Amino acid sequence: MTGFRGLAGRNALITGAASGIGRATALRLGAEGVPVGILDRDGAGAEDTAVRIRAAGGVALAYAVDITELSAVEKAVDAFEREVGPIGALVNNAGWDLAANFLDTQPEDWRKVIDINLVGPLNVTKAVLSRMVERGEGRVVSIASDAGRVGSSGESVYAACKGGIVAFSKSVAREVARQGITLNVVSPGPSDTPLFANFDPSGKLAKALERAIPMRRLGQAEDYPGLVAFLLCDDAAFITGQTISVSGGLTMHG
Ligand SMILES: NC(=O)c1ccc[n+]([C@@H]2O[C@H](COP(=O)([O-])OP(=O)(O)OC[C@H]3O[C@@H](n4cnc5c(N)ncnc54)[C@H](O)[C@@H]3O)[C@@H](O)[C@H]2O)c1
Repeated sequence: MTGFRGLAGRNALITGAASGIGRATALRLGAEGVPVGILDRDGAGAEDTAVRIRAAGGVALAYAVDITELSAVEKAVDAFEREVGPIGALVNNAGWDLAANFLDTQPEDWRKVIDINLVGPLNVTKAVLSRMVERGEGRVVSIASDAGRVGSSGESVYAACKGGIVAFSKSVAREVARQGITLNVVSPGPSDTPLFANFDPSGKLAKALERAIPMRRLGQAEDYPGLVAFLLCDDAAFITGQTISVSGGLTMHG
């Protein structure tokens, strides 16, 4: 047998797949025979990703949803399951950042960052996980950030959320392990996507990072889908509560 064992045909919901890492992951999952549901506040971008998956022979549906709104998330989850069937895999990928030192930020800035990067994934996990528990199987992969593992200047509240996602995933992984559900975290290092370009408009940080990263380049969106697909497949059935950095060696955890 070749490929990702048990992955094809497992219906997956992915957030933030209108762009960057999420889009690359959705395209790869679609190509691996996974029916994909895309939740993104950028409805046109989400539809564009879905069109590309369908053009390549896959199954994909797009929903214009802001993940900070639980009722909108629940409606989209219902609609995807009605249309395609039970969700077997969830990829919490949507994220957003505000570049500023902590002392220059205000509570309303924190709330926006926390809503998107922490409350959003909690909303989507809540909407999907209870269904997985009822069925006794499921896979959840959340995209955090090495900012949440080692810290990052100018990203304190975002880093707090991403560290929170790691702790949340480990805790829920313990709660649902006996129901056959795994939760793991993929932790990107700095990567060449629109999110990073907003954070580093001058490109100076990218140049400095290219010197600091042992592999001498930023991550690319295509560096992530293979690991996500692996964590969603049957070969990863005994892996849960883990966080794996994908950072060209910039961060190395024991
Ligand atoms: N690019 C990096 O350097 C980097 C580093 C570490 C972690 N990450 C993480 O990787 C993930 C993907 O980021 P990316 O770099 O591909 O960014 P991106 O900006 O290219 O894509 C993020 C996507 O999330 C969507 N989104 C944002 N807020 C949303 C909301 N409230 N509801 C629904 N959709 C929403 C956006 O519309 C966009 O399509 C994020 O969780 C990000 O925090 C990125």
